Amino acid sequence: MRVAVPLEVVAGERRVALVPEVVRRLVQAGFGVVVERGAGERAGFPDAAYVAAGAEVVADPEAVFGADCVLKVQRPAVREGSGPDETELLRPGAILISFLYPQTCPPAMARLAERGVSAFGLELVPRITRAQKMDALSSQSTVAGYKATLLAANATGKFFPMLMTAAGTVAPARVLVLGAGVAGLQAIATARRLGAVVEAADTRPATKEQVESLGASFISLDVSHEEAQDAGGYAKALAEEHLAREQEIIRAHAAKADVVITTALVPGRRAPILLPTSTVEAMAPGSVIVDLAAEMGGNCEVTRPGETVVHGSVTVLAPLNLPSQMPYHASQMFARNIAALLEYLAPGGEAKIDLEDEITGGCCVTYQGEIVHAPTRALLEKEVTA
Ligand code: NAI
Repeated sequence: MRVAVPLEVVAGERRVALVPEVVRRLVQAGFGVVVERGAGERAGFPDAAYVAAGAEVVADPEAVFGADCVLKVQRPAVREGSGPDETELLRPGAILISFLYPQTCPPAMARLAERGVSAFGLELVPRITRAQKMDALSSQSTVAGYKATLLAANATGKFFPMLMTAAGTVAPARVLVLGAGVAGLQAIATARRLGAVVEAADTRPATKEQVESLGASFISLDVSHEEAQDAGGYAKALAEEHLAREQEIIRAHAAKADVVITTALVPGRRAPILLPTSTVEAMAPGSVIVDLAAEMGGNCEVTRPGETVVHGSVTVLAPLNLPSQMPYHASQMFARNIAALLEYLAPGGEAKIDLEDEITGGCCVTYQGEIVHAPTRALLEKEVTA
């Protein structure tokens, strides 16, 4: 099987789907690998490193997209200017693996199906033990959590660590992390490594132990296990009165914090507002908020996704696509995830697609000309009947 790695064309995207180390492993496993010229350049991987790893580097996008299997970070897009539509370049019968987020763009999925492409969305890989090595959402959230803390440290006028200097003692920064999932735990760990005093809150009581094991204190939100999570262990949206109570508890802690990093997410929902405007206004002058949930609307009421807002004297950062700001390691982790899924779908380079399998069926969006991802199909049917 020939697998191809195109140059990512979405604005601001610096990651690449495969890095040379992973190319070498795939070549040894029997795959042929073709890489578009310059695909890894912005992540720190020159063409020569891919050639040394056994890949063929080509300049023509048509040669890249004509492969048996295309590995990408972002879903296919129209290339800038008069460039081609990547979907139209895919070969009928080809496999595509990338982030797809099919419910945000059902017509694009319909076009992949019409084209006869079997498309697999990395974000749909079920979060089960056997699929952990394919979990690109988690690896990229790890990068985002780390980077969020660095952005906060950069934006505050204060030291994170306690310092004892000839000029006297400096107190450590106080950091509050809201949401202790993958991104939140990495934000906590990074803030602790920098020497900050860290508090964290999450509605899932199970996170208390993880937070404390990182040396942070856990804020109890007074939410029961049943209110906080569903049978699969995922966070549930809180009822209005519980959310109001949570906002109240958080307000007191935010008022004492120098930095607040928010990462609270309920799968498939708008991010809950944990920092209403009144809380931002209760924070000390010079405080910083980094709202990682910006892509899902934000956990802070004054957040503007993709922008930095100064509200009173509080700076609110709402960065999008943070993993792309750390493209070397984000790509390395992503490449290991995508290669694990590729080898699962095509062991030894031969495609074996079994939609009854929990992982394969869970992340397959289009197959043999059909949209097999039920929520996306339902959205399209609604559009047709409307
Ligand atoms: P996750 O699902 O592992 O963690 C989310 C956590 O929020 C869960 O532990 C959940 O229990 C908690 N939560 C839900 N409702 C809550 C509430 N009302 N109060 C307190 N905690 C609550 O998700 P992950 O992977 O850690 O991602 C976190 C956020 O970061 C997401 O919004 C994701 O979209 C975003 N993200 C942003 C990036 C960027 O570049 N801006 C990059 C990667 C992730």
